Amino acid sequence: MSRQILVTNALPYANGDIHLGHLVGYIQADIWVRFQRMQGHAVHYVCADDTHGTPVMLRAEKEGITPEALIARVHGEHLRDFSDFGVNFDNYHSTHSEENRYFAEDIYGKLKAAGLIDSRSIEQFYDPVKNMFLPDRFIKGECPKCGAADQYGDNCEVCGAAYAPTDLKNPFSAVSGAKPEMRRSEHFFFKLSDDRAVAFLRDWTQGSSASGTRRLQPEAANKMKEWLGAEGENKLSDWDISRDAPYFGFEIPGSPGKYFYVWLDAPIGYFASFKNLADKAGVIDIARFIDGDRAGESELVHFIGKDILYFHALFWPAMLHFAGYRTPTQLSVNGFLTVDGAKMSKSRGTFITARSYIDQKLNPEWLRYYFAAKSNGSMEDVDLSLDDMIAKVNSDLVGKFINIASRCAGFISKRFDGRLGVSDPEALAPYRASLESGEVARAFESRDYSRALREIMRLADVANQYVNDNKPWELTKQEGQEARMHTVCSTALNQFRVLAGLLKPILPGVAEQVEGFLNIAPLKWGQLIETLPAGHAINKYQHMLTRIERVQIDRLLEANKASLAPTTDSANPQRHAESQQKEAETQVTASDAIAIDDFAKVDLRIARIVSAEHVEGADKLLRLQLDIGEERPRQVFAGIKSAYDPALLAGRLTVMVANLAPRKMKFGMSEGMVLAASGEGPGLYILSPDNGAEPGMRVR
Ligand code: 2FM
Ligand code: ZN
Repeated sequence: MSRQILVTNALPYANGDIHLGHLVGYIQADIWVRFQRMQGHAVHYVCADDTHGTPVMLRAEKEGITPEALIARVHGEHLRDFSDFGVNFDNYHSTHSEENRYFAEDIYGKLKAAGLIDSRSIEQFYDPVKNMFLPDRFIKGECPKCGAADQYGDNCEVCGAAYAPTDLKNPFSAVSGAKPEMRRSEHFFFKLSDDRAVAFLRDWTQGSSASGTRRLQPEAANKMKEWLGAEGENKLSDWDISRDAPYFGFEIPGSPGKYFYVWLDAPIGYFASFKNLADKAGVIDIARFIDGDRAGESELVHFIGKDILYFHALFWPAMLHFAGYRTPTQLSVNGFLTVDGAKMSKSRGTFITARSYIDQKLNPEWLRYYFAAKSNGSMEDVDLSLDDMIAKVNSDLVGKFINIASRCAGFISKRFDGRLGVSDPEALAPYRASLESGEVARAFESRDYSRALREIMRLADVANQYVNDNKPWELTKQEGQEARMHTVCSTALNQFRVLAGLLKPILPGVAEQVEGFLNIAPLKWGQLIETLPAGHAINKYQHMLTRIERVQIDRLLEANKASLAPTTDSANPQRHAESQQKEAETQVTASDAIAIDDFAKVDLRIARIVSAEHVEGADKLLRLQLDIGEERPRQVFAGIKSAYDPALLAGRLTVMVANLAPRKMKFGMSEGMVLAASGEGPGLYILSPDNGAEPGMRVR
């Protein structure tokens, strides 16, 4: 039966850029949404900017624009970042919207009617120059513990001590520099310590939704137990939901000068965005997704980071429940992103913005693939290990997956006019078995994408092994093997089709190219088990995904480095990176030059790797047989064992030096040389020509 699911991602603040840390959760959610849609379920996927609060107000003031102008600009930037990474919301709205005001007032009114809103007077720091109360992060002073100067109001960056802003010595306002005063004002509180709220949350946080899924991952449920305390104990405090003017937000009805705290209306923004979508679409029955008494008819799934679990597992469900709305079916909580094992850092260039990644022309699907490979559905932190990302993308995605098509497609177009032959059911049996077992689908459903990918890559190995065993590049030269070759290539392309379908939630762009190449309708999960029949016409193969080169990553880090030394370019890291790049280029041109005639002496040829194998007793070498259109292949020993699995090289095209004097080696004659790139660090990369190059073609 088709499920009805409303999926959301945490709403990003409207005063900051989207960076790779954000993208972990967005990509995880987008993959899940695409997977559910491929299953035929109805999914609405919404998000919005989180626009209210003091930081947005002050940033707009600093830029000399209105908060409305600031949030309009950032809205455009965020939306563009998400779509460039393939994160395709059905609606991207704003918490500064009429829909949001409506729901915020409605929920607040209902909580008040239920006797869950209290008001009391509290004392807080006040900036007498700016005439405003100061949120904790806008108060600075000396650390009460170690005395370090210029520390924020909640914790010390030098000694790590945590404290209240009132503990700071010599406090000052980070906005105006003035010495803050203590002032009293009236605030509204959501009575989370009320027995009804505590009892509800004890049950809600540990329970399952109607469909039987646990609402919280086990680690999150345990955290909640800790926060709620033992039975009979009450550790929850009431939640301050109001702020005094000046504040950018919604004024509280009946309380002039008092505003809803940004965190009250932020999650309500999920419903606001959904209502905005429903009003535009005209066909969505919104009550089915948000009414308390219709909760059984749909699912509400929130993807969030672990830093905002408190808000989503306590405040939000309690607000919804006591206001008569449905509560979330599931929270999917992700951990923080580290880069090369450490916190993202501006000085190291690992605080990478989404925009810089795109501007540096890195492929978003590389990151989607890597994040998927590192996501197992738990709250653990995700490490973006840059060399591991290069290795995984190059060896799994390009080396195993794309390789299948690039090794077989040419034969079908050249020898069989682009038409498939009969496929070999025996070679497709492992695929059928895997699909029937439902292993990959279950892994996607539980957001254990790394498990899904392990099974998908196992199937890719099956296909590569099949091609290696059947060697179409040899069959093509043997008389009477035409039909066999046709079957081998057609079978491999059918295997490739299934793999593309299984990878589609993760790699929507590549999957679309595959659909174009195979000349098929958009792949759906239930149809993956079918086989493209003999006679089916495919299109000419175009290369779909390139390998990542380390230099691209280095440039990305460089572009994100906030230079610590105050040079003229430091304010513009982008320009800084470019000038360094130019310097490197100048150094290259300055090195010893050769004449074109000298270069012409080197006979470079396109070679097809007919076979590749380990050499007994050699640590670094692989024995390659290279076809350059001569009568028999050349034997070449290449020092690429550390970087390549020989099983994946057979069938690939590369470039060799064909007129190097043959050399007698311990293991036999080496009749040429394969070219490979390398840099300072580890990593070795053989070359691949563009589609269309043929064995024996001269490279000049
Ligand atoms: O932590 C944040 O970035 C918040 N802007 C997330 C809000 S999520 C939801 F509640 F709106
Ligand atoms: Zn300190």
